[in-house]
Amino acid sequence: MCGIVGYIGEEEAPSILLEGLKRLEYRGYDSAGIAVSDGYNINVVKKAGKLKELENIVFSSPPAGTAGIGHTRWATHGVPSEKNSHPHYDCHENIVVVHNGIIENFQELKEGLEAAGHSFVSDTDTEVIAHLIEDYYNGDLKDAVFKAVQKLDGSYALAVMTKEEPNKIIAVRKDSPLIIGKGQGENYIASDIPAFLNNTRSFYILDDGEIAEVSKDKVVIYDKNGVSIDKEIFKVDWDPEMAEKNGYEHYMLKEIHEQPDALRRVLANRVSTQGVNLDEIGLTAEELKKYSQIQVVACGTAYYSGMVGKYIIEELARIPVKVDVASEFRYSNPIIDKDTLVIVVSQSGETADTLAGLRLAREKGAEVLALTNVVGSTIAREADRVLYLKAGPEIAVASTKAYLTMVSVFYLLAVQFAKIKGTINDDEYMGLVSDLIRLPELASETIKVSEEKAKEKARYFIDYDNSFYIGRNFDYTIALEGALKLKEISYLHAEAYPAGELKHGPLALIEEGIPVVAVVTRRSLYDKMLSNIKEVKARGANITAVAIAGDAEVEKAVDDVIFIPECNEFFSGLLAVIPLQLLAYYTAVGRGFDVDQPRNLAKSVTVE
Ligand code: F6R
Repeated sequence: MCGIVGYIGEEEAPSILLEGLKRLEYRGYDSAGIAVSDGYNINVVKKAGKLKELENIVFSSPPAGTAGIGHTRWATHGVPSEKNSHPHYDCHENIVVVHNGIIENFQELKEGLEAAGHSFVSDTDTEVIAHLIEDYYNGDLKDAVFKAVQKLDGSYALAVMTKEEPNKIIAVRKDSPLIIGKGQGENYIASDIPAFLNNTRSFYILDDGEIAEVSKDKVVIYDKNGVSIDKEIFKVDWDPEMAEKNGYEHYMLKEIHEQPDALRRVLANRVSTQGVNLDEIGLTAEELKKYSQIQVVACGTAYYSGMVGKYIIEELARIPVKVDVASEFRYSNPIIDKDTLVIVVSQSGETADTLAGLRLAREKGAEVLALTNVVGSTIAREADRVLYLKAGPEIAVASTKAYLTMVSVFYLLAVQFAKIKGTINDDEYMGLVSDLIRLPELASETIKVSEEKAKEKARYFIDYDNSFYIGRNFDYTIALEGALKLKEISYLHAEAYPAGELKHGPLALIEEGIPVVAVVTRRSLYDKMLSNIKEVKARGANITAVAIAGDAEVEKAVDDVIFIPECNEFFSGLLAVIPLQLLAYYTAVGRGFDVDQPRNLAKSVTVE
């Protein structure tokens, strides 16, 4: 979704704002703008298109001033254009606003404001906020913002300035993330921590309804009743390098290569030769035993991680697991209660539908465990318990390392549940534990052995508009994730099917040369997969298998094979996703697309 930033201090603001926006560009990239105060006036520069376009103008003629706000947009109301870009003003260009979120009652507000004489220049919902603040402004910006937001329905993270009070920026949020970075004689505002990780490691994470008055020497935070509060500072231990490309052409490739380290971090202290230790979620064995079912709620890639979780938990621990897409779950009437463990999965911890699913689950009396990457995110704060993914900042829009860490947390849960429920014996438990310990090393080996092959095969995919990904059981869920990766970054249609389902319709679409990816890592279903591969081969498909090293039979049956290292079959699916990420990456690069910022998408979807 959109990214917002703010800076107030001693330095010239434009380059700091642009630097912050660059780090938030993954949140939206169809237009961008900044507003800078020189103490008397506020100069606004905005431009449709990627941030680069704005940078070109700002660098050739930077607006002077040491306070400013900025925005990178993912359009919701109004096409991407200069007039719809943020910041937006009031009638007299006294007040400027940047906004992330959606104002649901904007039409009604706009009509009221127009009737009172306000005129609007954009098609956005955001512009009404500037006009509302103008109406309430009586010499105190914080007070005016406070009154204006009481009128808003929907979600917002806002940064607001007025030329009447050049020494402050007001920030407020509801259902959209917002943090305040604390510096020495300078302070920052951003949608997300990586924006200013190079400038500070100390942040306030605003809660819904809180409003911050930010000046260069001071940050004062008020609660939703307008009472000033003492807010705890959150110290970030991320290394700023984690949010850089470090020599890779794209963040996505860097993040694929970071997966072994991400796995090391997510498993550290949670699994050792002594076994799995999930004491951090604070549940006793007795409490864990009481869950009669598990419900997973998530979107996109996170949802697919939940599907792997279902297969693993059901197989090992024999607890029924239901997995729902959050945008459907939130409008269903789920059969869940206090004996249901609801697991919400979200890299960003801010996805609007997943958050709504969490709230519904809690209303129904279920316990909610969140798997999320972002410490202090809304989902982390609202869940009953949290297991952090520790993947480090994920900047590429297409999720890779977060997915791997999500799936490995499901493995930890499955193994632990199985042990507590007694569905596996001690030897089986210790066998699974030692396989879990080996995962980072196996992931590293997988990248090494599969990258060249995936790159080579990508050349074939470039020329085909359609492809199929097939698998059975949790190999099918890996196929789903592989197909999603190809679609979102290479803009080629890819459809994942349970391999046995093809003959019930989609087989009609198989024609000479069409690429089919077959994930074949489950030994128990090996013969079945081989038959399905032969069915598509007989109809002319060009098949790439992802299979276990040394599988000569599959090698003979397909056109190309990408091997992954030999390991316990419970974990091979996790490794099999890596070549599929690489295949999607190199196909998109080959087609010349912007891999990190695919069209129409944005990371952290904070609107419905
Ligand atoms: C795809 C992708 C998305 C996200 C989805 C949920 O590569 O990244 O499908 O997985 O938008 O996002 P989070 O995990 O932040 O809730």
